[in-house]
Amino acid sequence: MTQQRVLLIISGGIAAYKSLELVRLLRKRGIAVRAVLTQSAAQFVTPLSLGVLTEDQVYEDLFDLKAEREIGHIQLSRQADLVVVAPATANILAKMANGIADDLATTLLLATDKPVLAVPAMNVRMWHHKATQRNLNQLRADGVQVMEPDDGAMACGEFGKGRLPEPEAIAAEIERLLSSVRPEPVEAPTDILNGRHILITAGPTHEPIDPVRYIANRSSGKQGFAIAAAAARAGARVTLVAGPVHLPTPAGVDRVDVETARDMLAAVEAALPADAAIMVAAVADWRTADAADQKLKKDGSGRPAPLTLVENPDILATLGHHAQRPALLVGFAAETQKIAEHAQAKLAKKRADWIVANDVSGPPGTSVMGGDANTVQIVTAAGIESWPSLPKGEVADKLIEKVAHALSSPRD
Ligand code: CTP
Repeated sequence: MTQQRVLLIISGGIAAYKSLELVRLLRKRGIAVRAVLTQSAAQFVTPLSLGVLTEDQVYEDLFDLKAEREIGHIQLSRQADLVVVAPATANILAKMANGIADDLATTLLLATDKPVLAVPAMNVRMWHHKATQRNLNQLRADGVQVMEPDDGAMACGEFGKGRLPEPEAIAAEIERLLSSVRPEPVEAPTDILNGRHILITAGPTHEPIDPVRYIANRSSGKQGFAIAAAAARAGARVTLVAGPVHLPTPAGVDRVDVETARDMLAAVEAALPADAAIMVAAVADWRTADAADQKLKKDGSGRPAPLTLVENPDILATLGHHAQRPALLVGFAAETQKIAEHAQAKLAKKRADWIVANDVSGPPGTSVMGGDANTVQIVTAAGIESWPSLPKGEVADKLIEKVAHALSSPRD
């Protein structure tokens, strides 16, 4: 089932801190959340904490050029099943009621074609003010759902109506509204890879030091497994060579489990020929020169046993130069800077057709490694294609669509 998505617009006000709890409750219910902060909301909650909780980029400024290039505000406002403004200040309600779009949040609200829920929070007098009530009536008439604020003590010391409802109540209301909207269909391609063999590597490799220790990395295998699942849904015969990961085998996929880089290379070569190979694995660059047969013991000197490392075979480069080189060869690369330049160099060195560059430069806790979202750029000889931050499942579907298109087009 497609995951339902909420675009959460947080406007400024002391109640903004409750939006963090709201995000947590929505994620617990399996709902994806993309957050937008107004300038004043950013005084109350940090983009970092929101980014960690949503596992996505947090959007703040209309004129953030990078975001504009990667994802237009029109697109942002429509890639959701429901738009929620919580807390909604008297100010943002007034702008919404009058069609004013003078920052990212209000521009999204004017550009969206999705249902909108406003959850007001403000001082009791502001709530009862004729202007606010007039704006609320206008919004209701325009089809905006407005949740009634709670009664009670306010941060400003007054008492009355205007408190933000408890996050649990807002989450329940969001769930109720979502149950009546059909999720935006994510184009899941079917049958476009019928009769093709797609070879995929995923996960880390483990390089033994001795019988109980090994060298490893943080790759979860999620992106590679999602690509294997998407390729199988698209009708391909899929061989997935997986390093040690804890993930179920996607339906219709032939899985070969391996430990080390050398095992992975052998399994990849054994699976040839293939129409396309997508090398997603985070292969360890080095292994120990000679793994010990017995557990290494401390010798009392206080000095650790020396480890000599040697380079592992490069599986992607081996395929690039292979007699049975697949017609389409795709590599992945984790980059933090000069993404295009480094990826171009990798294309040439490894004789790959595309490098899917992951931008791993985000703040700690928002890393793609182990997370559910990914921001990628596809670097080819023809140029660079930038995709917005997407759930790994959607990156997989889009990539498989692109693979199918490339395999069906005559090569120039
Ligand atoms: N790769 C491989 N075999 C290796 C190392 C890497 O097949 N021994 C593949 C990976 O599966 C991936 C691509 O090559 O498709 C990544 O290339 P790499 O040079 O390792 O790039 P980074 O991991 O980004 O590392 P660095 O930038 O440090 O070179």
